[in-house]
Amino acid sequence: MSATYELRGPVAVITLDNPPVNGLGYDTRKGITDGLDKARADDKVKAIVITGAGKAFSGGADIREFGSPKALQEPNLLSVILAVEACTKPVVAAIHTVCMGGGLELSLGCHYRVAAPGTQVALPEVKLGLVPGAGGTQRLSRVIGVENALNMIVSGEPVKSELLAMAPGQKLFDKMIDGDLLAGAVAFATEVADKRPLPLVRNLKAEHPNPDAFFQFARNTVGAMSRNFPAPLQCVETVAASVYKKFDDGMKQEREAFIALMMTPESRALRHAFVAERATTKIPDVPADTPVRDVKKLAVIGAGTMGGGIAMNFLNAGIPVVMLEMKQEALDKGVAIIRKNYDAQVKKGKLKQDKLDARMALLSTTLNYADLKDADMVIEAVFEDIGVKEQVFKTLDEVMKPGAILASNTSTLDVNRIASFTKRPQDVIGTHFFSPANVMKLLEVVRGEKTAKDVLATVMALGKKIKKTCVVSGVCDGFIGNRMIEQYSRQAGFLLEEGCTPQQVDKAVEKFGFAMGPFRMGDLAGNDVGWYIRKRRYLEKPDLRYSKTADLLCEMGRFGQKTGAGWYDYVPGKRDAIPSALVDGMIEKHRAELGITPRKIGDDEIVHRLVYALVNEGAKIVEEGIALRASDIDMVYLTGYGFPLHRGGPMCYADTVGLFNVVAAMNRFAKNPHDDAKFWQPAPLLARLAAEGKTFS
Ligand SMILES: NC(=O)c1ccc[n+]([C@@H]2O[C@H](COP(=O)([O-])OP(=O)(O)OC[C@H]3O[C@@H](n4cnc5c(N)ncnc54)[C@H](O)[C@@H]3O)[C@@H](O)[C@H]2O)c1
Repeated sequence: MSATYELRGPVAVITLDNPPVNGLGYDTRKGITDGLDKARADDKVKAIVITGAGKAFSGGADIREFGSPKALQEPNLLSVILAVEACTKPVVAAIHTVCMGGGLELSLGCHYRVAAPGTQVALPEVKLGLVPGAGGTQRLSRVIGVENALNMIVSGEPVKSELLAMAPGQKLFDKMIDGDLLAGAVAFATEVADKRPLPLVRNLKAEHPNPDAFFQFARNTVGAMSRNFPAPLQCVETVAASVYKKFDDGMKQEREAFIALMMTPESRALRHAFVAERATTKIPDVPADTPVRDVKKLAVIGAGTMGGGIAMNFLNAGIPVVMLEMKQEALDKGVAIIRKNYDAQVKKGKLKQDKLDARMALLSTTLNYADLKDADMVIEAVFEDIGVKEQVFKTLDEVMKPGAILASNTSTLDVNRIASFTKRPQDVIGTHFFSPANVMKLLEVVRGEKTAKDVLATVMALGKKIKKTCVVSGVCDGFIGNRMIEQYSRQAGFLLEEGCTPQQVDKAVEKFGFAMGPFRMGDLAGNDVGWYIRKRRYLEKPDLRYSKTADLLCEMGRFGQKTGAGWYDYVPGKRDAIPSALVDGMIEKHRAELGITPRKIGDDEIVHRLVYALVNEGAKIVEEGIALRASDIDMVYLTGYGFPLHRGGPMCYADTVGLFNVVAAMNRFAKNPHDDAKFWQPAPLLARLAAEGKTFS
């Protein structure tokens, strides 16, 4: 049973008890209705208090029940709320810490609500592409006003209980209770025990002085801000129903909207991402209770682009950092950039000056490896050159204390080889940050062959502490994200050869929802980066087909924004990508040399060739065990590569399209004489799932 029942004098107390946040799973719901039955049948009971054990009143639906029939099994949440409303003895919700989603809806069904200050109150369903589905849209506007309710429901953001309690005319909380909440709630319940009739939120009116104008304004602004998602506009419509319709009719509209949204690919994508994010932390052979090493001080080697950003993450989390470089000038430059980044945050009002000072005070610098001896972990971010890495790791092996974690931020080199430069490969791991490292959410945690379990667990925990989405990757060329993007880039090159312009490809991909198309992305990151990698890597793979257009671009010195020209032209000081006649000419000439007659390629083909290139490589990565699960790949793409959230990541998107259809399209692409038939050979896992009618998830 996930709810307990006890008597406190004439008051029955039902305590939701389903850690971690008292999710309203089947057992908890049943516990509530059983408790109500018991209380009703007991003549000594005059009133009932519903509260939550531990760290929440209730966080809402139990995510473990997501998508399972148990979520709908009676008593479902709507039935529980009806039972609470219909109870002949007063029911008081005693709210504390977290009161969200279904938890808030449950409390709104109670006759009274008392709350502790500091409670986070929210209806976050919109974040899963839904509207609240158990009366939230109809009841919240009746107790805190239409505008306040709409703001909370459209944003999904939590509001502190004491703020809500101050709203003029609010009827959400009957009393705020400092100190012992349960004792206060029991006293309150005793006080109101004999009062009749029992107040019901459904009997209140949701009013607005000028509803037509207000809702039209809301439709315009919300519509413009949420183009790829249908739920926010439905939030507006359902809250409008609380004003225009009778309570039961409004409930019906809310229900219909909830069910319709549940079926949309957008909600599916958001729910997928929500579950996928939580799944990333689960590593089958590294249980959650694996002991972790204490990391109180960090060292960073290299104060360049990545080293500085990496250091900032730890300074932000209050962890002291010592940064090492070869020359004082490099240190000074690195520190100046960190300070400049913080200054910019202060200017924007995102950071207080005293916080900036505190963070900078945690940073020290050195030219001497001896100063690293008390660091618990070191992250190396020096040049991407195996010789340089070898020398650095050999030195670290000598100077770092026993048990210190030795991490490399390498983006392409073999972490096992780096580990072999030391006598403690069990302590070596890859931490692949994304640029800018202080901003990007993604951290690929690269598990070497010999990486110890507690080292992996420590780095995962540390990643959480610095607020990253950590995804475990095995060792392979490019790890998860870059290994896949290589195939995407190869396809982008073939598209140019066959007739596309860079802007046409970018536009199609951006219309699909990517933050940036492949060519604008190349100009931002620097086209030379891929050029050097191709020179090194494709030498080893002479039969690998790829388009030479990107190499020709680099030979023209067009490295991207940093050289003022890349796939596009740029005006100094601006980032607008201007189509370049020079580049178009280069592509046309190359195309003619290959003897290809250009053809018009539609947006759908462009998008599918690029995204299925990701999907096919992703399937190989799952099958090889490089990624622990397909949803980890989605998290890599959502948090590190600007993949559109409303599509849920490449693997989720493929599931939505249907793997059978994905493979059929790949077979069609394989017949294109200018593409590469080998490229489109479906990965065995993809072929098998498609044949069996299954999905990655
Ligand atoms: N730039 C990116 O987008 C990106 C993204 C992910 C990973 N990485 C990886 O991060 C690492 C660093 O890349 P970056 O872009 O910051 O390079 P960078 O050139 O900006 O910085 C490297 C710094 O390391 C210093 N350095 C070089 N050798 C050193 C040594 N022996 N001892 C101490 N310091 C030394 C250099 O002086 C320089 O300041 C590389 O392995 C790279 O592949 C880069």
